[in-house]
Amino acid sequence: MNPIQVGLLGAGTVGGGVFTVLNRNQEEIERRAGRGIEISMVADLDAKRAQEIVKGRAPIVSDAYAVIRDPNIEVVIELIGGYGIAKELVLAAIAQGKHVVTANKALIAVHGNEIFAAARDRGVIVAFEAAVAGGIPIIKALREGLTANRIEWIAGIINGTTNFILSEMRDKGLDFDVALKQAQELGYAEADPTFDIEGIDAAHKASIMSAIAFGVPVQFDKAHIEGITQLAPIDIRYAEELGYRIKLLGITKRTSHGIELRVHPTLIPANRLIASVEGAMNAVQVFGDAVGTTLYYGKGAGAEPTASAVIADLVDVVRYQSVDPDKRVPYLAFQEDRVINTVVMPMGEITTSYYLRLKVADQTGVLASITKILAEQDISIDALLQKEALQGQSQTDLIILSHQTQEKKMLLAIEKIEQLSTTLGPVIKIRLEELS
Ligand code: HSE
Repeated sequence: MNPIQVGLLGAGTVGGGVFTVLNRNQEEIERRAGRGIEISMVADLDAKRAQEIVKGRAPIVSDAYAVIRDPNIEVVIELIGGYGIAKELVLAAIAQGKHVVTANKALIAVHGNEIFAAARDRGVIVAFEAAVAGGIPIIKALREGLTANRIEWIAGIINGTTNFILSEMRDKGLDFDVALKQAQELGYAEADPTFDIEGIDAAHKASIMSAIAFGVPVQFDKAHIEGITQLAPIDIRYAEELGYRIKLLGITKRTSHGIELRVHPTLIPANRLIASVEGAMNAVQVFGDAVGTTLYYGKGAGAEPTASAVIADLVDVVRYQSVDPDKRVPYLAFQEDRVINTVVMPMGEITTSYYLRLKVADQTGVLASITKILAEQDISIDALLQKEALQGQSQTDLIILSHQTQEKKMLLAIEKIEQLSTTLGPVIKIRLEELS
């Protein structure tokens, strides 16, 4: 059988990885897929840069539609990124009856529902393993490996840039800005790091995992997103003293009131395996009712790790393209007519534990007035750390870890605590998850 002809849109780092890995492992891949895979055309506006990547292994064109319209091409890999032209091209490829493989998390998170509907109508496959956690086969695990389970929650370190920055802040006591600059110098963070440091990239990935885990539409627009820009090294230190690490987690949970979908810095017990994931690595912890806790670890970015996921999708396309579309694994794991529009809960309604840091006057009755406010909101204290006031100072840091409570109760308590004359600054609040 002739190799399947693949068109590549966007010849960057990952595209280079796809060429390299396809080339190196050609024989193994063909033995698995039952058919060869050949990239027969590449589209990129920057022909010179593209040539450095493609190295003569395929013709390069500047018009992406030339790839999409080529009748010999059966699969289009979209590696352009973003949700502008990439969306247009993916929809055009689908309209031409091409299967699509994409690494574009933003596209799937924001326009996934529309893209899947179009693909369903046309009977083509849209595969996006590389969109979440790079080389970790988490989509496959959630969609197929864990299919017997009622998945209860997922918590993931799904942004390598921020995990690298947090590791540097913890290891070296650096301020956020300094750690970010280092990450940029080392090539871990982009020149414009907004999507990473503001938690948007992690929210894209969390939204996709949430949809697949719970059989709901992709609901990025309902995700609560907080990044790491406000995180102070002192909180990382205090968390450490209390036996916790701070990670930027993408969290999605099933509750009796709806789904929680949130990205924010989170204290997690230092003795959890996921807490030791350092540097630019990714990890995703999934709790299923039958299997219990599972943990997936690996590189979330980079040429070959991402190519590993892209090529796995290509092999899936080869294997399943001749299967009746109704009998393929559904895009979001659940049969289309069984996808339920479960509500994503507003943040006030979610339940979690909290780390609070208060700057307070070091005087009689201060602690009592704070614990009274917490008790009024039915918030139970789990641990308390009072730092000794520095010599000559009449103020001190008070750290409180709470048991689980509703976010709106905690916000109300914080508002009241901040009104006390003995509270000397805003209360710093970081959510805490035991992940047990
Ligand atoms: N910028 C992402 C990260 C990789 O830092 O993990 C691609 O999503």
